[in-house]
Amino acid sequence: MRTKPEMMGQLRPAFSELNLSEGFEFDTEMVTNEIKEDCKPLLLSNEQLTTLMNDMDVAIRNGLAKDTNPSSIVKCYVTYVQDLPNGTERGKFLALDLGGTNFRVLLIELGENNYFHMDSEIFKVPAHIQTGKGTELFDHIAKCLAEFIKKHNLDSKKALPLGFTFSFPLRQVGLTKGYLNSWTKGFNCSGVVDEDVVRLLKEAIKRRKDVEIDVCGILNDTTGTIMSCAWKNPNTKIGLIVGTGCNACYVEKVENAELFDGDKTKPHVIVNTEWGAFGDDGKLDAVRTKYDRQIDEDSLNPGQQRFEKMISGMYMGEIVRLAIVDLANQNKLFEGRLSEQMKTKGAFGTSYVSDIESDKANYKETLKVLAEMGINDPSLVDCANVRYICECVSRRSAHLVSAGLAALLNKMDEKSVTIGVDGSVYRFHPYFHKLMVEKTKQLTKSDIKFDLMLSEDGSGRGAALVAAVAVRDELPSMTNGFSAK
Ligand code: GLC
Repeated sequence: MRTKPEMMGQLRPAFSELNLSEGFEFDTEMVTNEIKEDCKPLLLSNEQLTTLMNDMDVAIRNGLAKDTNPSSIVKCYVTYVQDLPNGTERGKFLALDLGGTNFRVLLIELGENNYFHMDSEIFKVPAHIQTGKGTELFDHIAKCLAEFIKKHNLDSKKALPLGFTFSFPLRQVGLTKGYLNSWTKGFNCSGVVDEDVVRLLKEAIKRRKDVEIDVCGILNDTTGTIMSCAWKNPNTKIGLIVGTGCNACYVEKVENAELFDGDKTKPHVIVNTEWGAFGDDGKLDAVRTKYDRQIDEDSLNPGQQRFEKMISGMYMGEIVRLAIVDLANQNKLFEGRLSEQMKTKGAFGTSYVSDIESDKANYKETLKVLAEMGINDPSLVDCANVRYICECVSRRSAHLVSAGLAALLNKMDEKSVTIGVDGSVYRFHPYFHKLMVEKTKQLTKSDIKFDLMLSEDGSGRGAALVAAVAVRDELPSMTNGFSAK
């Protein structure tokens, strides 16, 4: 390992001279001033975050109102989910989960005394299908479902109720009908935008002729997250995902959701904000960096999902990589030397950011990640600099989520709210939770209390619960709406 004792005129210790074993706390002292300077655009002040929070509030209100919705960037789709699970849901349900890195089929059983059992299987959606023809995507889904049904010896002729978690912007017109507004994340299949996704699924299943299903609900992963947390904690009123993508839904008063044409006798409905699109009208321009602009230009959907692209797992590693490459090209890192991997788009996964920030001793993880990226001879200062870049990018991500959450909490103005959360970034990044909670507190009205609850497999469990509540509500005596404020 190469050590670089002198940096910016100061004497720098070598790895061996440091006592960084257990309890290692990253010390930004070692980070060079030029890197700190170059990373400044990644730091967001409370003033900037407050502006974003206020803009998000306006964007959400525009999405909710009939007059402004058509031109609104944040769409605020009504979900037609109005009831929480109340524990009386029983039965076996199938669930499909499409929208993250993997596609899953699940079989979920709900029984007495909160009995819950789940079998699930992960299927790959190959890249050529993710960006191919829509019919091929749905044929692939139907094929995986049929294989699952066969493998689990389920009666293929008895239509099992199914909940479909489809985690993309869906303009819903009912619990089992929704039109895709646009693809996000890594998907871009032709012939699906503006089509009813439930119809496409049913048609693909019909084409196969070997299984029967009864689609009881289509939902977003954020809705699934609210539902799965509410099953245990009825105070859950926000569902948040920080994973491949980033989005939130929340419980809104029916009278505020002006486009809702469902059951207005119930007081509330879940609204899927699709806040990932925030900033697509320029509202984020003041805080976007050259790396954000590049990510956007090189993406499958340029100009779209700008908020999401500054936050979520699909992009975080790539933002770090772009910063590293840029700074190395200016001779500010690795003495200007870069490996082929480091120059390769997408090669620096977001899990590397979590690994690097999890370092407990002597930059062990950082060295491992850099070695995997083909950089075998970094200096101690290089390691500190790389760690600093990761921290700036992940902290900014957490703080942007906080601005969104605070906008929702302040708008809802309930004195106590549980936020159901899921997603790989939230789960695996060592400080994301802490950063997000800290900043949300600073931005939220002082009399509002909130807590975060990790969702236990919201996209799967939530789909079954939406299906289960739909079945349950066929017996009106058992209904149980969200508690009115
Ligand atoms: C993207 C999708 C949204 C989803 C989120 C998290 O933003 O558009 O529907 O909830 O990713 O998976």
